[in-house]
Amino acid sequence: MRQFLQCVCIGVSLYGVSLSHAQRVVPVPSLTAYQQECSVCHFAYPPGLLPAASWKSITDNFPQHFATNVLLNSDTQAEIANWLQTNAINPDWVGTQMPSDNRITRSTWWLQIHKPSKKLTAKVWKNAYVKSPSNCAACHRGAPNGEYNAKTVLIPS
Ligand code: HEC
Ligand code: HEC
Repeated sequence: MRQFLQCVCIGVSLYGVSLSHAQRVVPVPSLTAYQQECSVCHFAYPPGLLPAASWKSITDNFPQHFATNVLLNSDTQAEIANWLQTNAINPDWVGTQMPSDNRITRSTWWLQIHKPSKKLTAKVWKNAYVKSPSNCAACHRGAPNGEYNAKTVLIPS
């Protein structure tokens, strides 16, 4: 009986571990102005993927935005900036450390997951459909819903 219980417990804890690694989820709150202005060139990144200070740095620097310019009227800019900072509720696996360049793709957690992956060869990153590591949805179809799952990742070939 004791052996049986031990087996059940080990089974349950293994199940728990595999569940927590099966998928990482980040909330996807919605703001009309954010969806309109911030999903033109890439999908609208969930605010929980960057700490509030990084979002502030991004929105403080408009119109300069990575290799391009983002032009917003000042009301919209303030609305988006406030909303991003309020909603930057980071899951544990993201944390609150500011990544260099305010890039999700320079975050320690992001690099630790993607760098060692043998599936992610130089050829994959050069794939015309992937284009950039920032293009999460190329491999994570659930990205717009805040769902990232190593098991269901689809790598374009
Ligand atoms: C005119 C096009 C354009 C618009 C509009 C735009 N972005 Fe970007 N964004 C870019 C480009 C280009 C990059 C760099 C992507 C790359 O390196 O592949 C980028 C990258 C980012 C990144 C970093 C992604 C990474 O690598 O981790 C964040 C965060 C971001 N944008 C937020 C926003 C927010 C917030 C808005 C809305 C206010 C916005 N963007 C609107 C063009 C745009
Ligand atoms: C070229 C394909 C590709 C792109 C683009 C990509 N990923 Fe991934 N991602 C993967 C692969 C493959 C894994 C599984 C890694 C492993 O465990 O071997 C993964 C795993 C993850 C995980 C862990 C999932 C789990 O089950 O624990 C998260 C979170 C994640 N990615 C987030 C992102 C975010 C956010 C972006 C965009 C900023 C992104 N990824 C861009 C391929 C990609």
